[in-house]
Amino acid sequence: MRSGGPVDEKTGPLPSTCWTCKSPDVPRMIKELGSASEFYKGKWAKHGAEIVNHIGCADCHDAKTMNLTITRPALVEAFERQGKDIKKASHQDMRSLVCAQCHVEYYFNTKVPEEGVPYLTFPWDKGTTMEDMEAYYDNIQFSDWTHAISKAPMLKAQHPDYEIFKMGVHSQRGVSCADCHMPYKSEGGQKFTNHKLGSPLNNISGSCQVCHREETDRLVADVYERQDKIKEQRDMLETMLVQAHVEAKAAWDAGATEEAMKPILLAIRKSQWRWDFAAAGHGSSFHAPVEVGRIVSSGLMFAQEARVKLARLLASLGVKGEIAYPDITTKEKAQAFIGLDMKALKAEKDLFKQKYFIN
Ligand code: HEC
Ligand code: HEC
Ligand code: HEC
Ligand code: HEC
Repeated sequence: MRSGGPVDEKTGPLPSTCWTCKSPDVPRMIKELGSASEFYKGKWAKHGAEIVNHIGCADCHDAKTMNLTITRPALVEAFERQGKDIKKASHQDMRSLVCAQCHVEYYFNTKVPEEGVPYLTFPWDKGTTMEDMEAYYDNIQFSDWTHAISKAPMLKAQHPDYEIFKMGVHSQRGVSCADCHMPYKSEGGQKFTNHKLGSPLNNISGSCQVCHREETDRLVADVYERQDKIKEQRDMLETMLVQAHVEAKAAWDAGATEEAMKPILLAIRKSQWRWDFAAAGHGSSFHAPVEVGRIVSSGLMFAQEARVKLARLLASLGVKGEIAYPDITTKEKAQAFIGLDMKALKAEKDLFKQKYFIN
């Protein structure tokens, strides 16, 4: 989402669509402008002066009735394309769906409904599993970026919190996001919803212990153990992916043809999508540990497939011995390895901050 150009209304760096998850002024503006398309047109700066409020009441509540409501067109439309009506969602489902307005996988569709307009879209037409969304992207031959080292056409996962959560036992037993992240609290005999969204681990008695009788330490350990175990597997996948990218570069350098590389790059794309999907939602390892473990294993399989094919290809091209694993032991070394110009990036970011006071 980076542009090299100067920061002004027309050229960037971010499209106006990026406001969508940031403020209740977005639904207001969409109403005023008459359609979501009109709002998504142009760059971030176009509506900058209008967007003044942090995430607030009107993102999740109807201003008149204070009932929970969906204010983001992308979620309503994603339901419609699946033949479902979000207005029919139960109250308990709404206690998760208000979060699904932002905590989901998405992309900008620049073809539909209007050519050239980055229209915020959830890739849920085939369903909301990792494979369903991958099939959706494959079908429209979408890629977010081309990997600089391997030249693989990559997908970038955003934050599929809601989709992964749905695969876990809590969701399947009807527990909602709000049950853990917005637990009830009592003050002066009044029971109300805690609106300070954060880690449920800061309030085990208000969240977990409403349903579980285990001690606090046990419940915290449940969360950390799941996170640690998934991370252990994910790190293995990460190492294999780095090797695959580097070996792909070695194959290109040795004169591999596009045709020979195609199935290899596809396997790399699939593998990294799985890695990213598992890493992008910070709560996912707890929300649905079995599903995230499954996704990571399937990523390992595709990385392995790419590397087996690469080993054969490299041998056929006369490349002998192992391809050296790069030194990426520090962030700086890794950035240098993938060719990021951190100085230029930082200067661009500072300029952007200065101009729009965003931190
Ligand atoms: C991220 C979504 C979200 C935002 C933003 C939000 N709320 Fe809520 N609010 C909820 C949820 C979820 C509930 C629980 C509703 C239920 O179970 O009926 C709730 C419940 C309430 C209730 C019902 C009484 C209660 O405490 O359970 C009131 C009143 C309320 N919110 C006011 C506000 C106000 C005022 C703001 C802005 C300062 C706000 N909310 C912002 C999601 C949100
Ligand atoms: C209008 C968009 C929007 C809605 C609706 C929304 N969020 Fe968020 N949420 C965000 C953004 C943006 C962040 C900040 C992400 C970041 O800092 O990287 C965030 C951060 C969080 C965090 C991390 C907070 C922390 O301490 O770092 C949690 C947990 C969270 N949201 C849960 C929820 C839950 C649960 C709901 C529904 C009740 C919800 N959110 C609804 C946009 C939204
Ligand atoms: C609203 C009720 C509710 C809340 C709140 C809740 N849970 Fe659960 N939890 C359940 C139910 C129901 C199950 C499924 C158990 C079953 O069906 O036997 C479950 C299952 C689990 C499991 C086993 C499944 C797995 O993922 O491995 C763990 C661990 C767990 N919960 C931990 C927690 C922790 C930690 C918290 C707080 C952050 C929490 N729960 C909050 C109701 C809840
Ligand atoms: C059963 C309890 C439970 C439910 C239900 C639940 N979460 Fe979580 N969530 C957690 C726990 C525990 C963590 C990990 C917190 C930590 O590591 O401190 C977490 C982490 C997160 C994070 C990462 C926070 C951060 O600091 O980066 C986000 C975002 C989030 N959850 C959103 C959601 C959304 C959206 C839903 C509903 C679709 C949801 N959660 C449902 C318990 C729950």
